[in-house]
Amino acid sequence: MKSVTDCPLPSPRTISNALFNAGTSPPRNGGNAIACCNGSNPVNRPECASFRTPPGDFLTTCMAFVRSKFGVDPDCCPGPRNQLNQRTSFIDLSTTYGDTLAQQNDLRETGTGRLSEGLNRILPNGPPGPTCIAGDVCFKSGDGRAAEVPMISVNHIIFLREHNNIVERLRSFGWTDGELLYQEAKKILTGIYQHIVYTEYLPIILGDEGMDMFGLWSTPTGFNTQYNPSVNPTIRNACAAAAFRFGHSEVGSFVESFNEDFTPLAKSPMEDTFLNTRSIRNFDERFGPDAIARWMTTQFQSKSDRFFSPSVRNRLFQSMPKNGFDLPALSIQRGRDHGIPAYNRWREFCGFHPAQHFGTKYFGLTDHGTSAAKVLKSVYRHPDDIDLFAGGLSEKRAPGALVGPTFRCLIGLQFNLFKTGDRFFYENNFFPTGFTADQLQQIKKQTLSALYCRTMAVYTMPKNAFESPLAGKKRVPCEMFPKLDFTPWKKTKKYNK
Ligand code: HEM
Repeated sequence: MKSVTDCPLPSPRTISNALFNAGTSPPRNGGNAIACCNGSNPVNRPECASFRTPPGDFLTTCMAFVRSKFGVDPDCCPGPRNQLNQRTSFIDLSTTYGDTLAQQNDLRETGTGRLSEGLNRILPNGPPGPTCIAGDVCFKSGDGRAAEVPMISVNHIIFLREHNNIVERLRSFGWTDGELLYQEAKKILTGIYQHIVYTEYLPIILGDEGMDMFGLWSTPTGFNTQYNPSVNPTIRNACAAAAFRFGHSEVGSFVESFNEDFTPLAKSPMEDTFLNTRSIRNFDERFGPDAIARWMTTQFQSKSDRFFSPSVRNRLFQSMPKNGFDLPALSIQRGRDHGIPAYNRWREFCGFHPAQHFGTKYFGLTDHGTSAAKVLKSVYRHPDDIDLFAGGLSEKRAPGALVGPTFRCLIGLQFNLFKTGDRFFYENNFFPTGFTADQLQQIKKQTLSALYCRTMAVYTMPKNAFESPLAGKKRVPCEMFPKLDFTPWKKTKKYNK
């Protein structure tokens, strides 16, 4: 891959060392069946785009990289390579339910409306495979990454348990048919999930200004139909391969657990927990979903900025010292693999000036601090070469947001498309797929903290689960969070078979 000056672009690891190093290294093929490095030599085959790493950083100087699968153009015309989506295009909780009918059925109990649970109401056991480390029993869920780290497993368990809680509440309101119980509980939980994303999560990532700019606010009450059938809700490459990966800089260095009185119980280096299901199964009683949930809702997340924890920058999926991956370097290479245009082109796309020089003044890197701009100058030959992930992540934060203006633009636009392109978005006033006004009112009272309270032994929660109580916000007793009142669902009893 070449610079606009015709020289090769810098190695993703070189950029990562300069830009993302917070100061303190797959099996090289990370469970992939395709070998893309032979010792320190990149393997030359079309599926691979491995890159060099400086000597000493890792055991070898080749970081294995398997290129994403690609598909044919919908019109079967020759054109640029484009990647395939593995998941649905919507904020539809397919992570819990799966995205095919076969997968949905595989995750359900027969005839009860419930999702299958494992022992102690955790995720059910899945088949052996790359979704967990060899020797562990993997989890089964709607998404293959349920054991990537224990915190994501906790969130999967919350939604699994809440689905089954809703099924039992509906049953107590007279619902009997297993299929209707499943579909209604799925609809309710997906509505709650969308409400959480659009009213609690996105405002923290994008700030009020970003929410206004992209029309992302849900209304506090009532319907708010914004569906537009001509909108293509598919995730854009620039968002998936770069902007929404901002979250990788929030990953910390440890996974911890707290006792019921919120005193520390146990602590494990993050890299020891990748793809490991044992801390959730809690054989040694040091972790488990409840104790991890208590810690997750108390700690500061690592700041969203250009500095990455060594756990993901040097030790991602490592099985022995110095054989890990560098996640931000993979993201830079993924952007190149997908052919996404450079940072400057996205600046223009978002209505900003592209940087014509590496200074931070007029027509330069105006949204960067001087130290980030200096680092970019040290690794790139020309501002037009700056990779989107590197340029976007190193911007100063936009007002009230966790990301800079360019990522705010790309994420904001994407979440607008996810909502306006979704015929089943929870705020739509569409009978019979949507909610009734009374039902929607119940959905709109829900928060992620309320879900944690109903499904985990946390006892107290921050008002907004995405805000750390360490930042001065008080924890609120669980009794104070709104219950889900099923009275409006009683009326629909007539639909029961
Ligand atoms: C410890 C926690 C996490 C780990 C270990 C992790 C790991 C990974 C890995 C290995 C990839 C594939 C990289 C590649 O080969 O291109 C990936 C992709 C991605 N990650 Fe993460 N991640 C974590 C947390 C997050 C968070 C918090 C966010 C966002 C808020 C996020 C957003 C993404 C996105 C959008 C992708 C691209 C998905 C796709 O298009 O296939 N990740 N992550």
